[in-house]
Amino acid sequence: MPHLLIDGGRRLNGTVAIHGAKNAVLPLLAATLLADGESVLHNAPQLSDVEGCLEILSGFGCRTTQEGDTITVCADAADTPSITDELMRKMRSSIVFLGAMMARFGEAHLSYPGGCELGPRPIDLHLAAFRLMGAEIHEEGGQLHAFLPEGRFLGNTVSLSFPSVGATENILLAAVTAKGTTTILNAAREPEIIDLAAYLSACGARIHIDGGTITVEGVERLTACTHTVIPDRIEAATYMAAVAVTGGSAVLERLCPAHIATVLPVFAEMGCRISEFPQQIVLNAPARLNRIPFLRTMPYPGFPTDAAAPLLAAATVANGTSVFVESIFESRYKYVGELARMGAHIKIESRVAIVEGVPSLSGAAVDCTDLRGGAALVIAALAAEGRTVIGELTHLDRGYDHLEDTLTALGARVQRK
Ligand code: EPZ
Repeated sequence: MPHLLIDGGRRLNGTVAIHGAKNAVLPLLAATLLADGESVLHNAPQLSDVEGCLEILSGFGCRTTQEGDTITVCADAADTPSITDELMRKMRSSIVFLGAMMARFGEAHLSYPGGCELGPRPIDLHLAAFRLMGAEIHEEGGQLHAFLPEGRFLGNTVSLSFPSVGATENILLAAVTAKGTTTILNAAREPEIIDLAAYLSACGARIHIDGGTITVEGVERLTACTHTVIPDRIEAATYMAAVAVTGGSAVLERLCPAHIATVLPVFAEMGCRISEFPQQIVLNAPARLNRIPFLRTMPYPGFPTDAAAPLLAAATVANGTSVFVESIFESRYKYVGELARMGAHIKIESRVAIVEGVPSLSGAAVDCTDLRGGAALVIAALAAEGRTVIGELTHLDRGYDHLEDTLTALGARVQRK
């Protein structure tokens, strides 16, 4: 199995071009199933999760291509309303296809998405919404069999007990061609939701978003269009943490500073100088970062849970003790044990992480436990003295496009072997 070998202690300087957002392109790919003709997605990241989605679309009978950062999908010949167990296991976020499958085929068959490293990852909000919209869903033996007796979803009002990103996306995909109007109350507000609505509207959907309330007037057909995926705000936060922890400076390009408006103040609090421009951020870090007195993750526009692990890694060598509270997932700290192997001093109490900054970390052999935990190990390794060997890279490859090329261009000593 390949490993990342990182020789730490080098200051990172240079320019980073941010890729398209993983968490935007996945629901966009599900949405292409609903449109007549060929959809074209530009600025699509090259990630294993994207490959997984293209395999799922091909399994439906769609024609797909990916050349560089451009993906095309034509769903005109799609006729197979199922996803294989293997693909469901490989990518639990494939549940985002459920609404689009039912809307397109009138039925859907797939295995229950497993939990993942972050906890059980339930889908009760998704299924309750679909049942409210006229679906019959049978769960047996780990399999989901869903049907629309009317052949279409029926518009309804869905009130989410939690602003779930995936559930909001799934309901939106069910609603755009439903019979009648659907209103989603307490909907997620993440930029990836806005991007999905923008693509669907360009295909002819009738969507109105007012903060956490989304109103959709169902239409008969959608027509494929061309769309550019928004930048990846979590990738941007990750590279900012990588540069900051080494005391470096960088220009991050092709990103949307507004999407990380609650992340930038944290870097400033740590002592970084941040300059914002329309699609660019310039970051200059101090020789040693200050601690983060208190950071609580929240649904958008709050601090994003996915950006906490990279910041926590940077806090391990900050001056002082930092406190993190995870409000979204049950177990987001699996990677902390691996950081401890590098000399980090972190105490976990349920969803609270208390990080006592140490003068330095030492390189060690560690393994990724999940995608953002893996990013945390990379950031710690960049700051550590000596060599760190990072295993279980499949986690990282799900969400970071050409990671080692980007870090090497910033002056890091990284190799995959
Ligand atoms: C999306 O996951 C992202 N994944 C996650 O990014 C991100 O951390 C998360 O949103 C929160 O922003 C993708 O977009 C592919 P949720 P999702 O539904 O949709 C509970 C990454 O690293 N919940 O908002 O699964 C759930 O257990 C990944 O890129 C229910 O209880 O997140 C969790 O506690 C990790 N029932 C909370 O809501 C449900 O039916 C947030 O989940 C659905 C969710």
